[in-house]
Amino acid sequence: MPAIVIIGAQWGDEGKGKATDLLGSRIDYVVKFNGGNNAGHTVVIGNQKYALHLLPSGILTDGVIPVISNGVVIDIEVLFDELEALNARGVDVSKLRVSANAHIITHYHRTLDKVTERFLGKKQIGTTGRGIGPTYADKINRVGIRIQDLFDENILRQKVEAALDQKNHLLVKVYNRRAITVDEIVENLLSYAERLRPMVTDTALELNNALDAGKIVLFEGGQATMLDVDHGTYPFVTSSNSTAGGASTGSGIGPNRIERVIGIVKAYTTRVGAGPFPTELFDESGEFLRSKGFEFGTTTGRPRRTGWYDAPIARYSARINGVTDFVMTKLDVLTGLESIPVCVAYEVDGVRVDEVPVSQSDFHHAVPIYEDFPGWTEDITGVRAFEDLPVNAQAYVLAVEAISGCRISAIGVGPGREAIVVRHNLLG
Ligand code: GDP
Ligand code: IMO
Ligand code: MG
Repeated sequence: MPAIVIIGAQWGDEGKGKATDLLGSRIDYVVKFNGGNNAGHTVVIGNQKYALHLLPSGILTDGVIPVISNGVVIDIEVLFDELEALNARGVDVSKLRVSANAHIITHYHRTLDKVTERFLGKKQIGTTGRGIGPTYADKINRVGIRIQDLFDENILRQKVEAALDQKNHLLVKVYNRRAITVDEIVENLLSYAERLRPMVTDTALELNNALDAGKIVLFEGGQATMLDVDHGTYPFVTSSNSTAGGASTGSGIGPNRIERVIGIVKAYTTRVGAGPFPTELFDESGEFLRSKGFEFGTTTGRPRRTGWYDAPIARYSARINGVTDFVMTKLDVLTGLESIPVCVAYEVDGVRVDEVPVSQSDFHHAVPIYEDFPGWTEDITGVRAFEDLPVNAQAYVLAVEAISGCRISAIGVGPGREAIVVRHNLLG
């Protein structure tokens, strides 16, 4: 069982670390292949809570080799802060590998992220403000700075000059900000070079060698399917490919290496930032999900928008990613509800639509068609076997599974690492 990909199947924050934990000690490598420190993973182990942004949550598994591959955008200061914080708590981070081809988030990318959002006014995306979009834009425009550029000062200076040339016009003349000097950027980046050097390697080569040697490599996606720049609710998306295909381009392994794709779904839906969200709730049910599920962003602290489970989105994710197993998290949050609505299709301009509409405008005003399922009141956080769940909870999972396009192989019943009910072996 060589390469396994974990991706978010909704709009992020599904609890992707839950599946990583389930694979546990059998993983040899864990790879972050997309995004940057816009991600926020909260992992609870015993009475310890860890918040990770740039590092994959698999870094908390003993003995695993963590990798940041070419598809990631790296804020180097954040990287070192996160490594130090983990180190101080006794997590071994010494084996981290960083791709020489990964792009760097600089001061001007963060600034541009914030000013362009402000400029958009009511049309803003609600980004995390971490410079993600502008860094990927530079990559595509071929004016990005890569990790390997830190080790050649001349090249670095030329590249920063080329990047700033145009940006300073924009910053000064359009956004009324001060110009950023080449020296300040180059100096800042060079200050990290020697510390970074031992971690930097050809991660694609190392990962391919590991797979050849029969090692288990886990690719942990940041963000989620509906935030993917190609397949999500564009323009209300992030700027990378957070779907399963991104694991291949974002790391340099062939797509035929991937044997399992694990999609993480919450038992309901959340979203941070702007954009369409058909099942969004604005009443006390929405507040119930937010407070009981503690739905506040790990990165920005923003309250997450909340809504019922959306089966067309699950089916869409199953298709786009080639999901082989779903892991459903946070079933425990639904405990106490009298009945639980599930969106089975939409109505668009009076017509029933069974799949995610092809047109974004249609998706914006899609009205969910719900089916209601009876709830349960028993505390399920201690349950570890499917048959021990209340009958209505079992029925909810089975009904949702039947319309979600793939089997649900495990179910999260609490925030802790051990709070999970396994139905099918994720490695089998
Ligand atoms: P990620 O972005 O997908 O890594 O997810 P986040 O960490 O942003 O958000 C998921 C949150 O849900 C975290 O606070 C987890 O501790 C929590 N969580 C994960 N699984 C469960 C579960 O089964 N039940 C409950 N109550 N909380 C969970
Ligand atoms: P994890 O990995 C939820 C959202 C932002 C915004 C949009 C673009 O924790 O699931 P960006 O800063 O990426 O340019 O913002 O994407 N977003 C996330 N929402 N979870 C995340 O990551 C997110 N990363 C970005 O809120 O709407
Ligand atoms: Mg998150």
